[in-house]
Amino acid sequence: MLFPAIEFQSISRYFGAFCALDDVSFTVGQGEFFGLLGPNGAGKTTLISILGGLVKSHRGAARVMGHDVTTDYLNARRRLGVVPQELVYDPFFTVRETLRLQAGYYGLLKVDDWIDEILHYLGLSDKADSNMRALSGGMKRRVLVGQALVHKPPVIVLDEPTAGVDVELRHALWSFITKLNREGHTVLLTTHYLEEAEALCQRIAMLKNGKVVALDTKDNLISGVEPITVRLKTNGLPESWQARVRCQEGGTFLIELARYEELEALLAALREAHITIDGLSLEETDLERVFLRLTGNTAVTEEYHAI
Ligand SMILES: Nc1ncnc2c1ncn2[C@@H]1O[C@H](COP(=O)(O)OP(=O)(O)O)[C@@H](O)[C@H]1O
Ligand SMILES: [Mg+2]
Repeated sequence: MLFPAIEFQSISRYFGAFCALDDVSFTVGQGEFFGLLGPNGAGKTTLISILGGLVKSHRGAARVMGHDVTTDYLNARRRLGVVPQELVYDPFFTVRETLRLQAGYYGLLKVDDWIDEILHYLGLSDKADSNMRALSGGMKRRVLVGQALVHKPPVIVLDEPTAGVDVELRHALWSFITKLNREGHTVLLTTHYLEEAEALCQRIAMLKNGKVVALDTKDNLISGVEPITVRLKTNGLPESWQARVRCQEGGTFLIELARYEELEALLAALREAHITIDGLSLEETDLERVFLRLTGNTAVTEEYHAI
């Protein structure tokens, strides 16, 4: 395992009698791009707030780069940049002032070059001197991202940063975060967009009702769920494969494979039997189906589709 950048160890948190997080444990290695998924109310924001020291856990421990978020708060906080889900800002400052002020909290004074770079990558250069209150929602969100990055934290946590955000910002944000990840920053991303997690994250934890219901690499999550279906158009099938046909319509067969390696065996069998292939396509499982199966929450995926 890589050196842990983020550790959650048996975290539990209650709101009154309601258990929002129930014995949550997982570790994010340094340099990983990690996805935290789950339907609304699963506990994602509460978990991130515990990491940032905004909410206390009732049981368990959380650490950032080895520093406990309660007993070694300052060291943990300094190594962490959180982009919050809610838009919070001071309307009286300009964009540049907002970022300078944030840098000041961390005792950083000569950060103008880095602030210029942040403004550039977030497409905010021409808004540097605009007042926060004059910005659109999407622009404000870009500033929130900038605020989280101003002290160059090795660990970046984004809590649904693209919910309700236009496509242009989403793309700008992802290329910037991907660049930072390539440069060695650890990224923990909470997102509503499953395609986004699928495209960006290497490992994924899924939360449901405050519990971790899945924790694995994206590839394992996707390949472990359902067989791979091949749609094959031929004038026949070798004997040995006929039992594997799930469905047939004329010369089109749907065949289930347990693993991608089986595709090679299928193609070899067809070649050997001198059967010509008129068409072949794979019906791939995606993260959305994994998510649905694990969370059993159809309302949530309808929401995803509506976006
Ligand atoms: N301050 C609070 N007081 C009472 N309940 C809360 C509070 N914060 C969160 N909750 C509850 O905890 C659960 C998890 O919330 P949250 O962490 O925001 O979930 P998510 O970010 O996954 O949508 C929800 O049921 C929410 O209503
Ligand atoms: Mg949330």
